Amino acid sequence: MKANDVRRAFTEFFVERGHASQPSASLIPHDPTVLFTVAGMVPMKPYLTGEEPAPWPRAVSVQKCVRAGGKHNDLDEIGRTSRHLTFFEMLGNFSLGDYFKREAITWAWEFVTEVLGLDPERLWVTVHVSDDEAEAIWRDEVGVPAERIQRLEEDNYWRMGDTGPCGPSSEIFYDKGPDLGADGGPAHGGEDRFVEFWNLVFMQFEQHDDGTQSPLPKPSIDTGLGLERTVSLLQGVDSVWETDELASLLAAAATLTAVDVSTADEEQLVSLRILADHARSTSMLVSDGVFPSNEARGYVLRRILRRAVRHAFLLGVDEPLMAGMVDAVVAVMGDAYPELA
Ligand code: ALA
Repeated sequence: MKANDVRRAFTEFFVERGHASQPSASLIPHDPTVLFTVAGMVPMKPYLTGEEPAPWPRAVSVQKCVRAGGKHNDLDEIGRTSRHLTFFEMLGNFSLGDYFKREAITWAWEFVTEVLGLDPERLWVTVHVSDDEAEAIWRDEVGVPAERIQRLEEDNYWRMGDTGPCGPSSEIFYDKGPDLGADGGPAHGGEDRFVEFWNLVFMQFEQHDDGTQSPLPKPSIDTGLGLERTVSLLQGVDSVWETDELASLLAAAATLTAVDVSTADEEQLVSLRILADHARSTSMLVSDGVFPSNEARGYVLRRILRRAVRHAFLLGVDEPLMAGMVDAVVAVMGDAYPELA
């Protein structure tokens, strides 16, 4: 399956189960507590907290996300891991006070094993240390063997930011095999081996800035399936850089910098990956109306742009190059995001 097939299959699966399909919201959130839209739930926050009535009890979206500033910030990891990106797409299904853990878990399993066709024997799940209920659903209703269910503390508690909706979560991991790291499951094994690709958050609380928490009006569901990671599993490649859309951008970066990928050293590959990633995040941010500046979002955009230019320079290019990368982003992603053109 290609990225576009996964976007479509996910949306269809949840629309068939009564979810209202929502277009991606802007990367500039309405909510002042986060710099960027960092997750599919950001546009849903007012419905989760009860600030506004939810227009639908269930929704599904493919949300553009940027994690490059504030609490959710992956900027320094880019190019050096097999899975971090500043711009990525989060596929999510949401229950706004409607269904809860049972449906979220059983539908996730059905989608992953039957629609995506991932081998159930390679899947592991984690739950919050306190969450007997989620563990029982995975074990007794879904049939995941108890030895492939692990309990974690903070790693299985998701927060939007310093404030906002939060709750215990359950994550689904794929074991890519012993060549990529130590055994021991997601709790103890290698991170490149046990790849987390879907986070199911059981939204129950709101975190306030005085440190207290209050219950949300109704327990809700917020999930996030990482598109690029999932595509890497489906395409049987070791990293997000080898998936169809990012591989095209990496090839564009190699052409524009005249680097031969087959003989490039690791530092050159890191620079090419940074160019591919940063071209996506800068194009997407600019198309949503962010402008390079000295503060807040504009400053982060300027930092990302400057990093991209620096890495082009490290590859021996001292001519402007980002415009060419933007053309490549439009060619690769323009179908899914017509606003880019
Ligand atoms: N909001 C959750 C996350 O970003 C699903 O992982």
